[in-house]
Amino acid sequence: MQLPTLVSNLPTPCLLLDINKLEANIKHLSEHIGALGGSLRPHVKTHKSIDVMRKVIEGGNTEGITVSTLKEADYFFENGVTDILYAVSISPDKLSHVQHLMMAGCDLKIILDNIDVAKLVASYGERNGICFKVLIELDTDNHRSGVDPEGDELIEIAAIIDGSKGTSMLGVMTHAGESYHCNTPESLLEISHLERDRSVLAADRLKDVKLPCPVVSIGSTPTALSIDDLKGITEVRAGVYTFFDLVMAGVGVCQHKDIALSVLASVIGFQHAKGWIITDGGWMALSRDRGTSGQTIDYGYGLVSTIDGHAVNNLIVRQANQEHGILSNLTTVNSVRPATLNIGSHVQVLPNHACSTASQYSKYYVVDGDHVIAEWDRINGW
Ligand SMILES: Cc1ncc(COP(=O)(O)O)c(C=O)c1O
Repeated sequence: MQLPTLVSNLPTPCLLLDINKLEANIKHLSEHIGALGGSLRPHVKTHKSIDVMRKVIEGGNTEGITVSTLKEADYFFENGVTDILYAVSISPDKLSHVQHLMMAGCDLKIILDNIDVAKLVASYGERNGICFKVLIELDTDNHRSGVDPEGDELIEIAAIIDGSKGTSMLGVMTHAGESYHCNTPESLLEISHLERDRSVLAADRLKDVKLPCPVVSIGSTPTALSIDDLKGITEVRAGVYTFFDLVMAGVGVCQHKDIALSVLASVIGFQHAKGWIITDGGWMALSRDRGTSGQTIDYGYGLVSTIDGHAVNNLIVRQANQEHGILSNLTTVNSVRPATLNIGSHVQVLPNHACSTASQYSKYYVVDGDHVIAEWDRINGW
């Protein structure tokens, strides 16, 4: 298919990626981390695209990548990226896949957070003559998985990893997911300090008992953008900062005008009595993610915006069926239909959660203003 040159010629629904916003977002975090003397191991789970990754690398201050699936590891390795951290606790059935990638030349690191898994990984490595590089996951904010940085298990797991020929102890890592619940600069700074300090504490405890811990890896978009001193930290992981989304705007680390990802949808009908505008952008196009529902402003399934990120009559996607989006005003149920919206008009919808929305698509239409300048493929699945 020949690339349509104007956004108005694109088939809807489709996924738009604003090149200027993408580049500005990449530059912003790269400069922030660079100014603190740190380096980024960007998370590719949001974009899952080698073209976006090339832009991130061009942005500077990066070393290696972080992946959330081994399919991402396969794809980025095939596309020339060798330094990869697989940042979901390893399940033992995936070790042969990890081994395969390592033997093909991929410098793949894995994470784990329990004694039984450490023993299984070590014995798999010993039996198969391979040495897995392992980071121990820390729970620094009571959010998800990981060991207590102050607990005995940390030392016990590190001793197993360090004591086996099948594993080598690379360090500790954490992800302060509780930062997604912050919405003030003070709380963001506080959680970024917590993430850093509890990670450095864990690393110091390991070093005190002569266990190696060369890598201290932290990160989430809110904490990466808020941290003011990286002492003791060797790398910062962040992903959604490349695109941003309404949740990140609600957290306070970006503005609507910074959101690089949007869904283009067409108006297909009206329910005048109810003040509804119907589009072809339902939840299949936007995802079912309702990430802003717990925030101060709930944008339903997304906020209708102009290309410069301005709201259009405060319209949100209030309801979503599989292929139908129902737009109405954010504050009044009976909204007045904007004069500019007719059957066939296009609307751009800013997503709640960029990772979920992007995962509904296999490609990005890369846009510069009204012009489509490229199509970039992305991967999905496991
Ligand atoms: C382990 C890990 N590291 C880093 C990140 C990046 O977080 P964000 O997308 O907020 O930048 C995530 C996101 O879920 C994660 O799970």
